[in-house]
Order: sequence, then C-alpha cells, then structure tokens
Amino acid sequence: MSPLRHAASREVCIMKKIDMHAHFFPRISQAQAAELDQVQAPWLAVNANGETGQIMKGAQPFRPVYRALWDPQLRLQEMDKHGIDLQIICATPIMFGYEFPAAKTAAWAERMNDLAMEHCAADQARLKALAQVPLQDPELACRTASQAKASGHHGVQIGSHLGARDLDDEHLVQFLIHCAQENIPVLVHPWDMMTDGRMKKWMLPWLVAMPAETQLSILSLILSGAFERIPESLKICFAHGGGSFAFLLGRVDNAWQCRDIVRADCPRRPSSYVNRFYVDSAVFDTGALRLLTEVMGADRIMLGSDHPFPLGEQNIGKLVADSPWLDSADKQRINADNALDFFNIDTEGLNNGR
Ligand code: CO
Repeated sequence: MSPLRHAASREVCIMKKIDMHAHFFPRISQAQAAELDQVQAPWLAVNANGETGQIMKGAQPFRPVYRALWDPQLRLQEMDKHGIDLQIICATPIMFGYEFPAAKTAAWAERMNDLAMEHCAADQARLKALAQVPLQDPELACRTASQAKASGHHGVQIGSHLGARDLDDEHLVQFLIHCAQENIPVLVHPWDMMTDGRMKKWMLPWLVAMPAETQLSILSLILSGAFERIPESLKICFAHGGGSFAFLLGRVDNAWQCRDIVRADCPRRPSSYVNRFYVDSAVFDTGALRLLTEVMGADRIMLGSDHPFPLGEQNIGKLVADSPWLDSADKQRINADNALDFFNIDTEGLNNGR
C-alpha cells in the first residue's frame, strides 16, 4: 500500500466527496483575448446583472453560462450545497487554443493556468486546478506541464485529439510518457467533435459525437499498442464515463478476436487494458453507472460532475448515492479515495474546521 493510499484510507470518515471534473472560464475581455487571436479567441461577455453571460468565440456566442464559472465564491457556495469537500477545476475546452500558433498558445496557457490558480486561491484547501498545455507543440507542452506542476497544479487536462491526430500520434504519446515520468495526472476531455457538417441541431454534437470522441481517444491508445509503450505509472482519466467505450467494449473485443486488422498493433484483448486508465462518473443513469462499474471496477471511477454546465450532474453525487449495488466502500472510493490517490492530493488542512 502506497503512503498516499494509506493517507487516503485514514481520511475515510471525514473526506466524503471530491468532484474531479469541473470547469472554469476566467473573466477575460475580448481585448485581452485578442493577444491569442484577433478574430477567433474565446472570451467572456458578462451581462449587466453580473450573474449570467456568454462564452464568446470572436464575435459569435458559444455558450450561455452563469457566475459559478468565473466566481470562486459562488462555486464554493454551490459546493457547500452539494456537500462537495473539494473540487478540481480545469479549463473549458474552448480555451485550449490548439488551433493557434504554438508560441501564442503557450503564453495563453500560462496565463490561463495562473488565472486557474487565482480562482483556487479563494480556498486553497477546497479548490485545486488542472493546467492546460499547448499540445500542438510537444516540447512546449511538456515544459508547460512540468512548470504547472511546480506551481501547484494537480495535473493537466488535454483534448481528446489534436486536429486529425488521435492520442496514438507519436508526439502525443511522447507527451503522455513525459506525464508518466513526471507523475503528472492527465484528464482527457472530448472537444472539437466529429460532425462533418451534420448534427446541426438539438445539441447532437454533444449527445452523439462527444461520447464517440472519448471512445475514439481510448481505443486509439489501446488498438495502436500505445499502452504497451507508455509506462504503467501513467495516471490518465477520460471524461463522461469514457463516453461510448464501456457499452461497446464487447463489440471491440469481438472485432479483435475475429479480424486480424484489428489485432495488427494490439497484442492483447482490448478489454484487458481497462486497468490502464480511469473514467469519471458523469453518465446520468444508474444502469449506465452499473455497467461502467462492471467494466471498469469501482477503483477506476471518480466522481465528476461537469459543474457548472447544464449538461453536468445537477445534483452532484446523487447518481452514486442512488446506486444500491455499490457498497459503502465502493462509494467511498468513487466519491473520494480514487481521486485522492490519482491526483496526489495532500489532505492536510482540507478538513480543518469542516
Ligand atoms: Co467537462
């Protein structure tokens, strides 16, 4: 048993809920965002009431949002309401900036990472941050990840792909190996969804393409054999319960069994790699969580809400609480212990006064 696991176990009665998938977006004006890109950079338009606003991409509204996204005081109040002891925040994926020149994105990432730490400074014990990196330049990305770790970030968040390149791309694998070597946990978040001009209405890119993006990023690591080269020490977690992965794993195993082109680069049955990664619990349905637990095991799932977005779990932790087949030890793992271990969280000070 590692010292961290041991430390986590001792907190069992006190530490109840860590929400490891939550987003922030800093109060950045269009003029400030222009340093990244004059036309397409994301920024925040806050309404006169100060409570609501829009994430903008250049002149185009991208998503309606409210104050918990940028105001840590309201975030903390909502955490209290949901009984969340600790929340790990990360960028809203539109902030990644992978499409811009790497040097500009590196400067932007550093700025966003500083703003994430500023957000967390409202309560350093209860708010932790994951950094963003200029993934389009592997060397800069590694440097940014290491710097972020040194400045107090608890890991990095990356997008599920980089343009036409999936996670098995050699540069992205090198980045993951760097994270493994430096003990930097990685959250993979779907973004820039495959739509090819279709799925224009009803949020279909978020409902259909987003889970497929996550499944694609997991399968790209498995079927390419990348997991054979990446150290087992890599801590990597995929958002939204791994998207379509768990439900379709049987289909993948069958294909691996029956078609040599599926086996070509993957020496072992795809389902044997489920012990190489984690997923969050954001699947919104008790049957889905049950399947996910059967596929991944309760030691590979972490409570994650997607707070404060409307496609997130609205009553954070209710899905896990409402799952009677999970015993209290499993719930404790999903709600807190797995995340303590995964993100190397020092619990000292966290429970003071709580
Ligand atoms: Co999210």
